Amino acid sequence: MSLQAEVQHLPTAGQTPLHRLSDLLRVELRQVETLLNERAASPVATIPDLSSYLIAAGGKRLRPILTLACARAVGGRAGAATANLAAAVEFIHTATLLHDDVVDDSELRRGKAAAKNLWGASASILVGDFLFARAFTLMVETRDLRILDILSRASCVIAEGEVRQLAAIGQPDLSLEDYMAIVEAKTAALFEAATRAGALSGGSSDAAADAMGEYGRRLGRAFQLVDDLLDYGGLTSVIGKSVGDDFREGKVTLPVLIARERADAAGRVFWDRAITERGQRDGDLSQAIHLIRATGAGEATLEAARSEADAAKAALAKAAGGVFAAELADLADYCVERIH
Ligand code: IPE
Ligand code: IPE
Ligand code: MG
Ligand code: MG
Repeated sequence: MSLQAEVQHLPTAGQTPLHRLSDLLRVELRQVETLLNERAASPVATIPDLSSYLIAAGGKRLRPILTLACARAVGGRAGAATANLAAAVEFIHTATLLHDDVVDDSELRRGKAAAKNLWGASASILVGDFLFARAFTLMVETRDLRILDILSRASCVIAEGEVRQLAAIGQPDLSLEDYMAIVEAKTAALFEAATRAGALSGGSSDAAADAMGEYGRRLGRAFQLVDDLLDYGGLTSVIGKSVGDDFREGKVTLPVLIARERADAAGRVFWDRAITERGQRDGDLSQAIHLIRATGAGEATLEAARSEADAAKAALAKAAGGVFAAELADLADYCVERIH
């Protein structure tokens, strides 16, 4: 299978920074794909069956691309250790998706039935645990304790973020601070680890790795804000996930937080009922989408994502130059523009 076919790209017209980076990193990404396939192997058939189902479904491979590109952006070569690290990052991401779809009771992932609907929740969780463990084997092989330090900490933070979000379900008055703390933990932590560790494995100084980590953290925040907006009006055919999952689950995200804050009395009653009450009524999701648009909450969410992307680019400019840095800067904008 060609790399183009292996790496599912967003179907946006023309060349995106993700296309261009995949192209520039063709050789390294091929190594990563080989590692993902080889290391999902196990004599216990359910493990390769389930994991290859999800891995072959595509995914943007955004995080391993970030790792490889950051190694190159600081002037390093992306050698074997970087490929191991990039594969480890994608395995950790894949594990969190398997767990997340059970937690969120999601039907669709990467345009296909969620693995838990085919193999069941227990198998999904256990195979997720296997992939987490495999990620650590890959990292140990790099013999770089800094990488293990960064990714083991990030793994704890991701789990904390998911548990924190679980506790926040059904709370219409969730604060902006609490919401951002969830985003930071469940998503930005892995982006930050991917970029910081990528830079270090490319031979960067600690100061440059800090700047690249900040780029990743800000990019992760922007990415999740946009993902949260796509949950209210993205196209299933584009995002490969069902629209309205967050709403159905009573999850308060930035578009909701802003729409509720700006709502009139009737709007406030609607949001409080819809978020608190499990099992929404017919028409509730359309009403939510309407209110998010009408109050300008969608635009405000995009604005917040744009400002995170700007902060990402500012951090990047401190540490990196050349073609990879230019593509990483464009990628920050692209993560916000993918909404259109
Ligand atoms: C999904 O991430 C989880 C979030 C942080 C929103 P991606 O959108 O990067 O998922 P894939 O890997 O492309 O499927
Ligand atoms: C993304 O969670 C973060 C993790 C998987 C840890 P979400 O629940 O917001 O992402 P999607 O929408 O299912 O991809
Ligand atoms: Mg989810
Ligand atoms: Mg979730």
